[in-house]
Amino acid sequence: MAESDEAAKFSGMSSQDPNIGDTHRPTIRQLDDSAINRIAAGEVVERPASAVKELVENAIDAGAQRITIEIAEGGKTPIRVTDDGCGMTPEDLPLALSRHATSKIDGSDLLNIHTFGFRGEALPSLGAVGRLTITSRAAGHEAAQIRVSGGKMDPVRPAGLRAGTIVELSDLFYATPARLKFMRTDRAESQAINDVVKRLAMAEPSVGFTLRDVSGGGEGRVTFRADPLTGDLFDALHGRLAAVLGREFAENALRIDATRDGIRLFGYAALPTYSRGAAVAQFLFVNSRPVKDKMLTGALRGAYFDFLSRDRHPAAALFVDCDPTLVDVNVHPAKSEVRFRDPGLARGLIVSALRHALAEAGHRASTTVAGATLGGYAPRSGHCQWRASRLSDGSCVFGGQNGLLCRAAPGFCARAATTRHRRVCRAAGRVQWAGD
Ligand SMILES: Nc1ncnc2c1ncn2[C@@H]1O[C@H](COP(=O)(O)OP(=O)(O)OP(=O)(O)O)[C@@H](O)[C@H]1O
Ligand SMILES: [Mg+2]
Repeated sequence: MAESDEAAKFSGMSSQDPNIGDTHRPTIRQLDDSAINRIAAGEVVERPASAVKELVENAIDAGAQRITIEIAEGGKTPIRVTDDGCGMTPEDLPLALSRHATSKIDGSDLLNIHTFGFRGEALPSLGAVGRLTITSRAAGHEAAQIRVSGGKMDPVRPAGLRAGTIVELSDLFYATPARLKFMRTDRAESQAINDVVKRLAMAEPSVGFTLRDVSGGGEGRVTFRADPLTGDLFDALHGRLAAVLGREFAENALRIDATRDGIRLFGYAALPTYSRGAAVAQFLFVNSRPVKDKMLTGALRGAYFDFLSRDRHPAAALFVDCDPTLVDVNVHPAKSEVRFRDPGLARGLIVSALRHALAEAGHRASTTVAGATLGGYAPRSGHCQWRASRLSDGSCVFGGQNGLLCRAAPGFCARAATTRHRRVCRAAGRVQWAGD
C-alpha cells in the first residue's frame, strides 16, 4: 500500500480528502461560525418535533397561560408557536438569537435549574438551520420583530403585537439539506410533534395548549386541545391526563403519592387490566421535564412485575420531584435524559409506591366485590367502560393475576387484561367470566 493510502487509512480518511496536505498530515482548521452553529444545531434540532419542543418549552418558561402551535407538512414548513408569556424587549431579540445567551441561569450553578431551558442554544440553533422570525412584546415596551436566516440576522424592526411572543420557523433544514433527506413522512413527523406537545401538556396542566395543522391553509384543523386547568394538583393532573390519554386511562388510574428522603413521586398509574401490548403509554417526568429514562421505565416495569404477564406493559404518568441539585439535567443534547445523584433512591420509591398502590387496589376490589364502588377504579355510574358482555345478574367481572380485580357492580361492565390472565384466573377459580 502506498504511504499516503496507509496514512489515510490510519486517520480514517480517504486519500481524496481535501484535508490531506502535501505533507500527508491533516491540517487543523478553525471552523467558521456558520459551520459551528450548524454542527451544534444538529444535536439540538434533530427533526421538526425537536424544534416544536424547544419553542413550546420557551413559551412555558416565559410563564405563558395559553400556547398555540401551528404546523404544516409535518412541521417542515412552517412551525408557528404563539404564547401569552412575558415577551421580550426589542433589545432582547438579538441576544435571544446569540449562542449561549440565556435569561434562565447566570452560569454560577449548573445543578440548580428550575426551567426547561438553560443553555441559550435553542433559538440560535433553529436560526442556523431554518428561517426564523420572532415577534415579541414585553410589558411597558413596544413590540418588535427580528429575522434570522441560515444564521444571518437582520436588524430589529418595529412590529404590531399586543403581548407575548410569536416564533415562526419556516424552511426547516434549508441550510442543512442533508437533514431533510432523513425526514420521515409528513404523517410520521406530525405524529412526533403531537407526542411532544402532549408530553409537555401533561407536565403543565395549568397551561392551555392548542395544536393546529394548517397544511391545507386557512384556519386549519385542531389536532389536539387541552384547556388550562386550575385547582388541586391531583384534580388538575387527572383532568389533563383524561384530555391527553383519554377517559379510559383516567378512569382506570390509581392515584400515586409517596415521598422518601426528599424525593416525591406522584401521578397516576393504570390498573393492570388497562395494560397495553407495547410500552406506548408510559410517561415519566423529572421536576416537570418529560424524560426518557431507562432506569425509571425499568422501575415501572419492576413494580408491575407480579401483576402483569410479560407481554403486557403498564400505563402510567408519573412525576418525580426533588431538589434540582439531586439530579443533573445537563447530560443530553435534547435535555431528554437526566442523571440522579442516587438512582437507587428514585427506583426504590417507584417500585415500592406502585406495588403498594396495586396491592391496595386488589385488596379493595376483593373485599367490595358486590359494592357499588370498587375502590378508585369503578366505572362511573351508567357508564359501560368496556364492550364486554355482562353476566346474567347484571354484574360484570374482570381480572388480573393474584386475585387482583374481580367483579364490577351490577350495571357496570369491565374486561380482562389479556386472554392469558383470563385463563389463569379462571383456572384458579378466582373469577367468573362474562360469557361463562
Ligand atoms: N417565547 C418566549 N418568550 C419570552 N422569552 C423568550 C421566549 N423564547 C425565548 N426567550 C428568551 O430567549 C432566550 C434564549 O432562548 P433559547 O431557547 O435559545 O435559550 P434557553 O431557553 O435560555 O436555553 P435552551 O437552549 O436550553 O433552550 C431565553 O433565555 C429567553 O430569555
Ligand atoms: Mg429554550
